[in-house]
Amino acid sequence: MATKAKTKSAWFCQTCGVESAKWVGKCPSCGEWNSFVEEVVVKSSPSQIIGSNGQGKKNKPQKISEISSSEASRFDTKNEELNRVLGGGLVPGSLILIGGEPGIGKSTLALQIALNLKNYTTLYVSGEESAQQIKLRGNRINSDNENCLIVSETSMENIFSHVKNTSPDIIVIDSIQTLATESIEAGPGSVSQIRECTSQLLRFAKESSTPVILIGHITKDGNLAGPKILEHMVDTVLQFEGDQNHMYRILRSTKNRFGSTSEMGIYEMQHNGLREVSNPSELLLSQDDESLSGVTISASIEGMRPFLIETQALVSSAAYGTPQRSSTGFDLRRLNMLLAVLEKRAGFKLSTKDVFLNIAGGIKVNDPAIDLAVILAVLSSSTDISIPKEVCFSGEIGLSGEIRPVSRIDQRISEAEKLGFKQIFIPKHNSKGLDTSKFKIKIHLVSKVGEVFQTLFR
Ligand code: TYD
Ligand code: MG
Repeated sequence: MATKAKTKSAWFCQTCGVESAKWVGKCPSCGEWNSFVEEVVVKSSPSQIIGSNGQGKKNKPQKISEISSSEASRFDTKNEELNRVLGGGLVPGSLILIGGEPGIGKSTLALQIALNLKNYTTLYVSGEESAQQIKLRGNRINSDNENCLIVSETSMENIFSHVKNTSPDIIVIDSIQTLATESIEAGPGSVSQIRECTSQLLRFAKESSTPVILIGHITKDGNLAGPKILEHMVDTVLQFEGDQNHMYRILRSTKNRFGSTSEMGIYEMQHNGLREVSNPSELLLSQDDESLSGVTISASIEGMRPFLIETQALVSSAAYGTPQRSSTGFDLRRLNMLLAVLEKRAGFKLSTKDVFLNIAGGIKVNDPAIDLAVILAVLSSSTDISIPKEVCFSGEIGLSGEIRPVSRIDQRISEAEKLGFKQIFIPKHNSKGLDTSKFKIKIHLVSKVGEVFQTLFR
């Protein structure tokens, strides 16, 4: 029985979703200025909400040993990179949010997943494109699936009735910001709509054990649009990122209740959809054989996977008083710190130089083991002495200029050897327990930046 709805209006911070009875200039919760917008809310009784059974069904407390684990029944998405990022496939009843800039390929990725799941019924709901537009995209991807149903819809009530009629195994929503439910008067994309639609989908997902994939927009500063609580509500938050001008796309999780957040999936955007890149090293190393100054290779690890990344630096005399420091794919503060270490501990005067750093392929690196390659790229460009193409590096740099040990050194060395590198510089501290005799690659153990320099630029 529906009870009488009570109309109420409230002010919401568009950044963090905090509710206030009156307008405030500065959000007391997240500190954002001018972020409060008035929204009409209709408080509905829980029984009105579609998706819940309305009977006030209660779950019985159970012993943890008695709860059946559904670990074995993860859905295989037939997409190795996605499975890896999710921690081994889609968990039944999970709510997954994929965020990314416009045009990065979120819709393409979601459609590809839906079309790949041939043995399951998938419902692809789009609030942004018509069914014909999705069909055109499907033609480009060149994949068909009898069990994939497409609907262009923005009303939550209609979506739930489609779900009832088609009983899908997996649901894709493109995008959460376009949905609206009648129980709330605010427009689509407003904080209260996003919150309400997500909570209805969440309840539906948990009750029916259906995984729901949500696509979310991101704002100019790179955060997921809408309230922060959207991220709290879902089980997994995936970021789809990459440079529009590069063809590589990186899928990483910033939150995952069912797996690690350090995994990364790599795709290449092609004319016929996204291709999985299972051997990233080949893509991240440039193909020319000539060695150039300012280019070094780092043996890095992201998640469980080792791969080799090219680091490029350009050091030139500063044209203006204050030298410029710019970095793509690497933390600028860390670059400044490394330059200070070079100046103070190794005696290289870089304070009057512009320094530009670039990680190849538009990839962002979090592994600290890339430090050594960064420092050597800077030194190589500064002295204009090239480092042979057959050499690679792995090591973290400390504030006193020491080279600190890195994790999983075996894997890094093996990957370098596999890709045909002849020499690798690794931290001396990593030699403990390392059986160097099993590698054919020449291993240099170093503890100071100066030692690397002397070996290479003698
Ligand atoms: P799209 O999935 O629409 O991005 P989003 O949903 O994140 O906004 O991707 C759009 C871009 O991808 C567009 O610039 C065209 C390009 N694209 C390809 O290069 N190849 C393809 O096969 C497809 C479907 C799209
Ligand atoms: Mg889209």
